[in-house]
Amino acid sequence: FQDGPLQGKHILVTSGPTHEPIDPVRYIANRSSGAQGAAIARALHALGARVSFVTGPADVPPPAGVDVVRVETAQQMLDAVRQSLPADAAVFAAAVADWRVACASDSKLKKTSGALPVLTFAENPDILHSISHAKDQRPKLVIGFAAETDDVVENATAKRLRKGCDWIVANDVSPQTGIMGGQENAVTLIDEKGADTWPRMSKDAVSQRLAALIAQRLA
Ligand code: C5P
Repeated sequence: FQDGPLQGKHILVTSGPTHEPIDPVRYIANRSSGAQGAAIARALHALGARVSFVTGPADVPPPAGVDVVRVETAQQMLDAVRQSLPADAAVFAAAVADWRVACASDSKLKKTSGALPVLTFAENPDILHSISHAKDQRPKLVIGFAAETDDVVENATAKRLRKGCDWIVANDVSPQTGIMGGQENAVTLIDEKGADTWPRMSKDAVSQRLAALIAQRLA
């Protein structure tokens, strides 16, 4: 392992989207490149942490040097997260699908003339909420993300309380920002003291700044 302020610490990072099957060839998903999650895992590893990286099917490959667990669905992600505990800190950067298709089909749905398929949904587990409220093995520092398109600080502040996490990294993902799938991010970090808006910078720079703050908090 690397030398650094996070040496001896174990940090869990979730990243990427989840895919929720409709049938063996179709799925629903959120948009997520996995770029920010991968950058965070890389920055934490660079500071010496042992990183468990639980990732859905992302566009961006996982960074070198981290323990990768690949999953598809939200339920699988929750199971993998639980198995990765205990951890000193957990960063939930994955874009988890809020719903899965109830009664996904084991065989491919056929295109029959006149009849359109109707999908019904079931609620997925909220991984961040569940780990934030865990009775045992709650990491000392739990960090969530909030992708918002309006009233970023207000919505993210409410989300921090609702989810029970320590920090929320909020970002504006409105289409005109170019943040979704891009190289840069503009974030506001919300903690128990309030909101701190960072200048727009690369996703790597956001990750390095966040990793340094995590190291400070765990020191
Ligand atoms: O509620 P919302 O999806 O906007 O919350 C975003 C935060 O919650 C992110 O940190 C995301 O990784 C996490 N989350 C989760 N499990 C879910 C939904 C969101 O861990 N089912």
